[in-house]
Amino acid sequence: MLFALSTSHKIGLATMGAIFIIYSLVSAFILPRRNPNFPGRYLVPYILLSIGMFALMMGAVLVFGKEPKVAEASAGTTTTQTSTTGTTTTSTPSTGDPAAGKVVFMNSGCSACHKFTAAGASGTVGPDLDNLAEYAMHANQPVEPFTSAAIEHPPAAYVPPGYPTNVMQPYGGVTMTPTQLSDLVAFLTTQ
Ligand code: HEC
Repeated sequence: MLFALSTSHKIGLATMGAIFIIYSLVSAFILPRRNPNFPGRYLVPYILLSIGMFALMMGAVLVFGKEPKVAEASAGTTTTQTSTTGTTTTSTPSTGDPAAGKVVFMNSGCSACHKFTAAGASGTVGPDLDNLAEYAMHANQPVEPFTSAAIEHPPAAYVPPGYPTNVMQPYGGVTMTPTQLSDLVAFLTTQ
């Protein structure tokens, strides 16, 4: 959890922690050595002071431990959130550029096999990509990861009846860069 905190908050926490530790050491070792009766007649003030120190430390944890919520505006980044239960890290896939994706679609020969109205494609070897959302629903997956996986490593998680599952080549890895792939997925899924 410490790693997720901003530097100033870490310094604040560390300083408070150090003060607390020094206070504990002094009252546990140094004061009793100089005055074997310690806390003796200072008992009540000592207890009050200890409670005060404890409250201060807890306050510091509450104040400094709370990371200001950083608005994670841009997609395609890793967001780290701190909570009392620990640290959760989620990765959002990059959002591609549909216009660039259209160029990828036109240049990759997808039109030869697929119908996709936005690209003026009318192939019939593969499924009609105008119905991608419906196929993803059959596969019980969100449409972006469904589409991305279908292009990277066919066959798709759901293939409508009547289409061969061994003719579309895998476009993942060398054939297409991750950017081209996410652009292409954006083009296919934002129509
Ligand atoms: C040689 C013909 C052919 C080419 C070229 C081709 N596909 Fe396919 N595609 C198919 C066939 C057949 C399927 C159905 C079986 C499967 O998923 O492999 C399919 C499935 C898909 C699916 C999943 C649809 C579904 O649910 O079944 C997507 C998305 C897709 N193709 C996109 C593309 C894109 C984008 C390109 C270009 C980069 C492309 N395809 C190139 C033949 C082709």
